[in-house]
Amino acid sequence: MKSVTETTPDSERAERAAEADNHRRSFFAKLSIALSVVIGAAMTLPGVGFVLAPIFVWPRPKWRDVGEVSKFPLGSTVLVNFQDPSPEAWAGVTAETGAWLRRSSETEFIAFSINCRHLGCPVRWLEEATLFMCPCHGGVYYEDGEVAAGPPPQALARYPVRIQNGQVQIQTSPLPLTLD
Ligand code: FES
Repeated sequence: MKSVTETTPDSERAERAAEADNHRRSFFAKLSIALSVVIGAAMTLPGVGFVLAPIFVWPRPKWRDVGEVSKFPLGSTVLVNFQDPSPEAWAGVTAETGAWLRRSSETEFIAFSINCRHLGCPVRWLEEATLFMCPCHGGVYYEDGEVAAGPPPQALARYPVRIQNGQVQIQTSPLPLTLD
């Protein structure tokens, strides 16, 4: 009579078959996980790249026409609008920005950023007071953009300006708060 623990050729074959089956299942499970990772990455990475690309690709500054020189009276300070340096097709009005442009002489202009240096609110030019005022927290700037009162830590940023073919041009930058 055979003992209980004794193995027969049939049971050995069955064990080997079960072991091979386990190996196959394990292999296919790992293959399935690997394929899922590859497919998931293929579907996700383009979207992640699309969202993160603007962080790493800094738009180059661009010169924008803001009007003919003759349109600006000597000594005037007026609001001019222009597109930011990297307008996206879907940006709509959000691609529009502005600056306070002053004609300081026949051939010289100064362009102040409209964004307050405190938290970026748009400042207004008050002609009678010759001051820039920020409505958010009471920031006040002198006519040369230096801080007169309130929380702004720095003078208003300025854009580079030039005259080209009778047109006043402002060099745009993605974040006016970072300009000098
Ligand atoms: Fe202008 Fe605060 S954002 S004073």
